[in-house]
Amino acid sequence: MCGIVGVLGQHEAAPILVEALKRLEYRGYDSAGIATVNGGALDRRRAVGKLVNLSDLLVHQPLAGKSGIGHTRWATHGEPNERNAHPHQASHVAVVHNGIVENFKDLREELTAKGLSFESETDTETVAKMAQYYLDQGLSPRDAAEQTVARLEGAFALAFLFQGEDDLMVVARKGSPLAIGHGDGEMFVGSDAIALAPLTHKITYLDEGDFAVLTRNSVEIRDAKGQLANREMRTIQLDTTQVDKGGYKHFMAKEIAEQPMVLERTVASYLNDGAIALPRNAEGAAIDFTQIDRLTIVACGTAYYAGAVAKYWFEQIAQIPVEIDVASEFRYREPPVSPRTAALFVSQSGETADTLAALRYMTPRADCILSVVNVPESSIARESDFVFPIHAGPEIGVASTKAFTCQLTVLLAMVLEAARQRGTLDDATLAHHVETLTTLPGMMSRTLNIGTASEKISAKLAEARDILFLGRGPLFPLAMEGALKLKEISYIHAEGYASGELKHGPIALVDKQVPVIVMAPRDGLFDKTVSNMQEVMARGGKIVLVSDAVGLAEAGDGVWKRVEMPACDDLIAPILYAIPAQMLAYHTACAKGTDVDQPRNLAKSVTVE
Ligand code: F6R
Repeated sequence: MCGIVGVLGQHEAAPILVEALKRLEYRGYDSAGIATVNGGALDRRRAVGKLVNLSDLLVHQPLAGKSGIGHTRWATHGEPNERNAHPHQASHVAVVHNGIVENFKDLREELTAKGLSFESETDTETVAKMAQYYLDQGLSPRDAAEQTVARLEGAFALAFLFQGEDDLMVVARKGSPLAIGHGDGEMFVGSDAIALAPLTHKITYLDEGDFAVLTRNSVEIRDAKGQLANREMRTIQLDTTQVDKGGYKHFMAKEIAEQPMVLERTVASYLNDGAIALPRNAEGAAIDFTQIDRLTIVACGTAYYAGAVAKYWFEQIAQIPVEIDVASEFRYREPPVSPRTAALFVSQSGETADTLAALRYMTPRADCILSVVNVPESSIARESDFVFPIHAGPEIGVASTKAFTCQLTVLLAMVLEAARQRGTLDDATLAHHVETLTTLPGMMSRTLNIGTASEKISAKLAEARDILFLGRGPLFPLAMEGALKLKEISYIHAEGYASGELKHGPIALVDKQVPVIVMAPRDGLFDKTVSNMQEVMARGGKIVLVSDAVGLAEAGDGVWKRVEMPACDDLIAPILYAIPAQMLAYHTACAKGTDVDQPRNLAKSVTVE
């Protein structure tokens, strides 16, 4: 989604803004722009497409000034063209915005009736014009911004810059995150701490409804009620090497490769003396799974598939019935919530608008709100009773990889602790499962050896128009995750099905042109999956079988391509089988030459509905 940066600095702002915007590129965007104030004069440059276009423009039409704001836009209102790109400017004010102003049409009509005209189709231009209107009424820049923000409905993070004000920036947050970075006689603003990483480690996250007035040496924050607010300044040790490609061609390749190392950290943080140790709540209390009769899991996209795997685990291992839904449906479904229900939200970013709205639906209804997040400072984490961090580190590739396997790992740790508390496993089985969890980083490392096979097969997959993925039990969500990964970065149409569901319709798609990728660890359901595979092969379908050596041998002849996985305990198969799902998508996208890290139309953190 859109990225915001801002600087009140000691050096020329334009290059600092462009570099900071580069660190937000991963969020997805289709145009970019900056505005600066130089000797009181406000000016801006905007360009469609990648940041390099903005940089080129700045070479020919430089922007001087040590104060500025910048933006990468992911189009919502109006197509990605220069007119719609941010910053939006009305004569004495420039604004950058992340989110959606829901009442912008009413505001636009109101301003049009007052004689103001608009040049873009965006909701954001209304914000700039409204602020200018208040300036024209004689309000100070600060008050004009405050009055404007008070008129807005919807979700937003905003930064305002004013003509004649070299040492002033006004920012506001409602629904979309915003961080203030404190420098030495400098002040920075960013959509996240990654944008500010090389500039400062001292970060203050704004709370919902906060409005802040910044100068180079001061920050005044007021809360939603207009009261002065004291927000904690944290020192964030974000290592900038975590946000570079580290020699890999793509962030996605790096993030796939670093999973053994990352999982080692995640597993270690959920173990203490060989037993599962879950984080406690703000009061220091441990979660009590014996008080929970039902669990509702809500998430979007890949995080939803992690939740869908966890449903199998919670039900089979901890005997907790689970309802699961995608957040965009759940939030409007108005489901009744029975007593002793806990709600669990899974989100890498912790800012996904639909997931956050679903959480807010459940807050007054559920006994307890749990979240599995990668960003502990995120809105979803802050509004949860218990937060389970996944410790994946910044995930920059738009396609989620290491966050998915870390989410699964944390969910599995939660399931094992739930099973212990509820007595659903005997001691020996529980100990064996915990031990299996500790083997995960090593097993992940061995699984990465499928790289060469994946590359060869993907060269063929790249020619396909449609691809099916099949799986059973906890591997069914993996089939859907494999299909999602493939379609989002290679743009090949793909669908994931439960193997047993194939003959109820999708088998009609099968012919010699359609590769069918079967995720089949040698678990209790393996023979059934092989039968479904035979049905595909009997119709000329091209099977890519992902299984261990014995499984591949047992499947017999007729399989088109094979991916040999290490033999593994059934418990962790869904985590390990994420690797072929990720790699086949990655290598296919590379073979097609698509933009792997920033696929078209996609945003990393979906902060609008
Ligand atoms: C797919 C992908 C998305 C996200 C989804 C939820 O690779 O990354 O489907 O999983 O947008 O995002 P978070 O986890 O940030 O809530």
